[in-house]
Amino acid sequence: MEQYAIKGGNPLVGEVEIGGAKNAALPIIAASVMTDETVYIDNVPDVRDTNVLLKSMQDLGVMVSRQNRHRYTVNAANIHSLIVDDDNIRKIRASYYLIGALLGKYKKAEVALPGGCNIGSRGIDQHLKGFRALGAEVEIKHGLIRASAEKLVGSHIYMDIVSVGATINVMMAATLAEGTTIIENAAKEPHVVDLANFLNSMGANIKGAGTDVIRIKGVQKLHGTDYAIIPDQIEAGTFMFAAAITKGDVTVKNVIPKHLESISAKLLEIGCEVEESDDAVRVVSSKPLRHTHVKTLPYPGFPTDMQPQIAVALALSQGTSIVTESIFDNRFKYVDELTRMGANIKVEGNTAIIDGVAKYTGAGIAAPDLRAGAALVMACLAAEGYSTVEEIQYIERGYEDFCMKLQSLGAQIEKVNSEREFQKFKLKIG
Ligand code: EPZ
Repeated sequence: MEQYAIKGGNPLVGEVEIGGAKNAALPIIAASVMTDETVYIDNVPDVRDTNVLLKSMQDLGVMVSRQNRHRYTVNAANIHSLIVDDDNIRKIRASYYLIGALLGKYKKAEVALPGGCNIGSRGIDQHLKGFRALGAEVEIKHGLIRASAEKLVGSHIYMDIVSVGATINVMMAATLAEGTTIIENAAKEPHVVDLANFLNSMGANIKGAGTDVIRIKGVQKLHGTDYAIIPDQIEAGTFMFAAAITKGDVTVKNVIPKHLESISAKLLEIGCEVEESDDAVRVVSSKPLRHTHVKTLPYPGFPTDMQPQIAVALALSQGTSIVTESIFDNRFKYVDELTRMGANIKVEGNTAIIDGVAKYTGAGIAAPDLRAGAALVMACLAAEGYSTVEEIQYIERGYEDFCMKLQSLGAQIEKVNSEREFQKFKLKIG
């Protein structure tokens, strides 16, 4: 199996281009089936999750053509099946966005229950509640979610918890419902706003995305569009923390600095310099890192998808830090791996108490999930000596050209397939 071979110790220095946001691309790709006209989507990240979703849509009869690595045309005029059930789609969380999209357009959908990163129990009750409020019958049978309706009618829906997925799914279905839907306690993440902008560019009438009340006036049909996905907030944040962790100087380019404010604020707090310009942010880490406390929260709070990355930085800072995970109930699985590299972290429930150490030492570790995997790679890049990271397929679900981008910043990292290749890497690096 492929793994990363890493020799730590080089500060990451340079500029890195940030790609399109995975978590915006997934709902936007799914929503492109909601019109019979052709949709052009630009800035689609070339990562496993988006590729799996596009492939599953092709299996339904959707015409997908790739104009270049990041630009697709999608035409769903000839869909011949409303059942989405294959081995791959079960592995990605975003498969369930096809329920909102197909239910909205065809008033019927059957989609395999979602998989995705194992970061805790990930309920879908708020999605189902939202579909039912719009008048759909929903049942879960034989591993499939089945939703159908004679017609969808707008409704006033209060989300019991702030959920990105449920807000997105209900917004899609409500776009083609009769009358007005109001989603209260909606998620405000940039990708929720991006989907609303995409749907509006197709003729939808959605207001308030980015606030906690979204109003959707149903329209009868949607038309084609040409739309570019926003830059990936979490990919950018990951490289920003890579600068902090490796004592480097990294500029993330093609970003929306506003989306990175909670991340920049924490970097400043722990002693990094952060310079913002129109579409770039530079992070310089030249002083010893300071400890801090952080709690993950829905946007605009500090993102749960950046929790492992900040913990890897704090474990190298002076003093004791507390990291509280308030979104998912099992997102500290990387701590055991980091402990093997010398970190001093105690997890109690949803809190990690971190006593900073002076350095990590390289080790053979495995990525437990996407973001934790990326964070562990950064720990290896800062560590003394050699490391290997297994299970890199998790990382490649969500980071395009991760290894190459790190190499371009001066990281000593390569993909290897065997112990022999690892030894060759060691000989080459010296
Ligand atoms: C999205 O997951 C992202 N995934 C996640 O990114 C991200 O961590 C998460 O939002 C939070 O920002 C995609 O966009 C594909 P939620 P999602 O619904 O939609 C509970 C990554 O690394 N909940 O906001 O699944 C749920 O269990 C991934 O890129 C219910 O109880 O997240 C969780 O505790 C990982 N019932 C919390 O709400 C529901 O019906 C937030 O989940 C829905 C959610």
